[in-house]
Amino acid sequence: MHGALLCRLASIPDGGACVVDAGHADGTGVVVIRRGHDAWAYLNRCPHFSVCLDYEPGEVLTYDGQVLMCAHHSALFRFEDGRCIEGPCAGAALTPVAIRVVDGEVRCAAGMPAVP
Ligand code: FES
Repeated sequence: MHGALLCRLASIPDGGACVVDAGHADGTGVVVIRRGHDAWAYLNRCPHFSVCLDYEPGEVLTYDGQVLMCAHHSALFRFEDGRCIEGPCAGAALTPVAIRVVDGEVRCAAGMPAVP
């Protein structure tokens, strides 16, 4: 038994990200990041000012398939663990969403975390 479908892996550019509606009442979505066959997911909520990471709705910038960048003050977060490695919230981390990739589908592996 697998959790809710977030998106298809192939719908995310390799080294890029997409934003998925997670059903949170306040509209907080989930950012799904891809590198090759690997994917990670985090709440779309920056630990700096608790706002979304998007530049444009649904668009989150990534660099070199390694980090994603918050639109507001350019904090850089590692794909693998969501840790901020540079910027005003260095050392803080995005809130992880447990996922699995099954048959090319990115699915929740557990319940959705609460929005901080
Ligand atoms: S709100 Fe994200 S870096 Fe400031």
